[in-house]
Amino acid sequence: MPEKREIKIVADGVELNRAAADEFGRCARAAVATHGRFCVALAGGSTPRGVYSLLAQDEADAKGHPSEHLPWDNIHVFFGDERHVPPEDPESNYRMARESLLSLVPIPSGNVYRIAAELEAQAAALQYEDQLRQFFQARLNEWPRFDLILLGMGPDGHTASLFPESPALKENSRMVAANWVEKFKSYRITFTFPVLNHAAAVIFLVAGESKSRILQAVLQGAENAAYPCQKIQPAEGRLLWIVDKDAAKLLA
Ligand code: 6PG
Repeated sequence: MPEKREIKIVADGVELNRAAADEFGRCARAAVATHGRFCVALAGGSTPRGVYSLLAQDEADAKGHPSEHLPWDNIHVFFGDERHVPPEDPESNYRMARESLLSLVPIPSGNVYRIAAELEAQAAALQYEDQLRQFFQARLNEWPRFDLILLGMGPDGHTASLFPESPALKENSRMVAANWVEKFKSYRITFTFPVLNHAAAVIFLVAGESKSRILQAVLQGAENAAYPCQKIQPAEGRLLWIVDKDAAKLLA
């Protein structure tokens, strides 16, 4: 395991949201200060929704206090993965982020890079990879370096849409993969490990007792257990797990 891995255990979901929103703000301000923009990839699923809502609430509360606003004009939002559904589908990660955050803050619409998951899965993956290459001016064999990637963890140890035994686990040349997920009998579009592991910072958000067993296995079990989460080891980046007490109850 990377020695630089940090684990922050917080009391509950409210504290998790606060801790994650504060980390988001710190990363955003630091990135804009050092290189003029903050490039972040959002996580999907249900856990991050509370974080996004709190970021939107912080923006509303900052009215009249210019120093408290995040630099939305220089924030560029991507998605670490997407279900193979149109953007208005209730399952869409983009829809969740739009409803809980992006429609509530003054981020320019051109700064939000949605995965076109209404397309055929492989076409959506190729198109998103092109968007990444263009945005990051990444040539072949170069990888985009996100300032921050938010991730969740599923009960099977998956993250983004890198599920155990799924084909994209072996993908080391593409940035974005159309990944067939057998248990859902559907495709997902997902960042691949090289993109995730080139980030300057990766923050996992994990809450709830239902994740306690898998969290112990991922963080303290056999390192070769082959849980996709265990393969997230940013080579030159920070790895932070923000977990609530219920999820952390089995950790030594
Ligand atoms: C998704 C996410 C996925 C999620 C985990 C945890 O598209 O669903 O990318 O990796 O983060 O499944 O989901 P919860 O936060 O809902 O437990």
